[in-house]
Amino acid sequence: MADVRAMLAIGQHGQLGLNGRLPWEGNTDPEYVADVQRFFDVTRGHVLLSGPRTKESIPDFVYHDRTIHEIRSWMQPEEVIARFPGRVIFIGGGPPVWAAYAHLIRHWDITRLPYDGEADRYFDPNWITLAHSA
Ligand SMILES: NC(=O)c1ccc[n+]([C@@H]2O[C@H](COP(=O)([O-])OP(=O)(O)OC[C@H]3O[C@@H](n4cnc5c(N)ncnc54)[C@H](OP(=O)(O)O)[C@@H]3O)[C@@H](O)[C@H]2O)c1
Repeated sequence: MADVRAMLAIGQHGQLGLNGRLPWEGNTDPEYVADVQRFFDVTRGHVLLSGPRTKESIPDFVYHDRTIHEIRSWMQPEEVIARFPGRVIFIGGGPPVWAAYAHLIRHWDITRLPYDGEADRYFDPNWITLAHSA
């Protein structure tokens, strides 16, 4: 079974995104800075697969020490995963991507941040149980 993981951060009510960015983008409080840093540390050396909007938000400096690919809705999840044998693969979102790949994800790493503001993308806890039933 491929080593497929997800790593994401959510606000107090499952907020994930706003206007194509993280809802708390620009917040320099230590827990937000530490969360972004941890994401880049944990995914270093591995494969990161994201939908087009999420990929757009990935800064250039992280491309040199990991494999980053854009995935699209016409791609078959099992076939995408099979392209990276022996690699640790992180499914990087957004929400439709996590929903489509949930049944393949073995490890969910979710950080809840103190953010309590608006969002237009939300975490769905059903993704985690989809992983066991599909
Ligand atoms: N808080 C966090 O940890 C975190 C992490 C990542 C992203 N985000 C946030 O999430 C937002 C971006 O997510 P988004 O959903 O708007 O856009 P997205 O990242 O482009 O992801 C959704 C798109 O991925 C494509 N896709 C690829 N494979 C798919 C599949 N098998 N099934 C369905 N769709 C698939 C689809 O586009 P096509 O139909 O065009 O292929 C779909 O519209 C941003 O606000 C970002 O900051 C937050």
